[in-house]
Amino acid sequence: MDFSFVLDPYYLGILFSGLGMTLLLALLSVVFGSMLGFIPAFMRLSRHKVLHVIAKSYVELIRGTPLLVQVLLIYSMVRLPVVVFLGIDLSSFIPGMLALLINSSAYVSEIIRGGILSVPKGQKEAALSLGMNQKQTMRKIILPQAIKHIIPALGNEFVTMIKETSIFMYLGIAELMYAATIVRTSTYAVKETYIVVAILYFMLTFPTSKLMGYFEKRLSYGK
Ligand code: ARG
Repeated sequence: MDFSFVLDPYYLGILFSGLGMTLLLALLSVVFGSMLGFIPAFMRLSRHKVLHVIAKSYVELIRGTPLLVQVLLIYSMVRLPVVVFLGIDLSSFIPGMLALLINSSAYVSEIIRGGILSVPKGQKEAALSLGMNQKQTMRKIILPQAIKHIIPALGNEFVTMIKETSIFMYLGIAELMYAATIVRTSTYAVKETYIVVAILYFMLTFPTSKLMGYFEKRLSYGK
């Protein structure tokens, strides 16, 4: 085993910039995926049959097909229009990000829906009987309680996304696995590179999981 490359600022730089890209991709997909996720979540909760069916199909379709297939499909559909119409070739960043966002929004929508459904029915009935309308009830009564379930689950989604971004290696986006390929092929230290990369991923995911566990505990007080 030869780990000497970890002392070389050149390789270290490549690995850490890959780590930064991984973090950025995961963060963007969870933040924007969460915003987008509200749409299918509310559509599925609505009594409107058509909206319900559309949202349900969207979620099932996304959850029922591999992320890798979605990424490659969206990449093949979107890359050219992005280059032609926007005149930029952000290599694969835009198509890749779009695919990840779509994927994350489907998973997050289920988190949001679950959080809302976890609030006891009596809360809604009490709010309505106090004269609040549907919107006020959702904003002032249901969502503040649902958020206790939603936030820790979003943390888990973030951890999942950190790991899932490794798929972007196939698009040539310079995230951590891509950086690993560069380091591995120029140092020939294959096992060592993957061990270091695994440690780097773990350094991101483990503290995040711990932090979320802590939040979950804090948020569950007073229940
Ligand atoms: N690797 C799995 C897949 O390809 C899981 C994707 C998980 N996505 C998420 N947003 N939690 O389908």
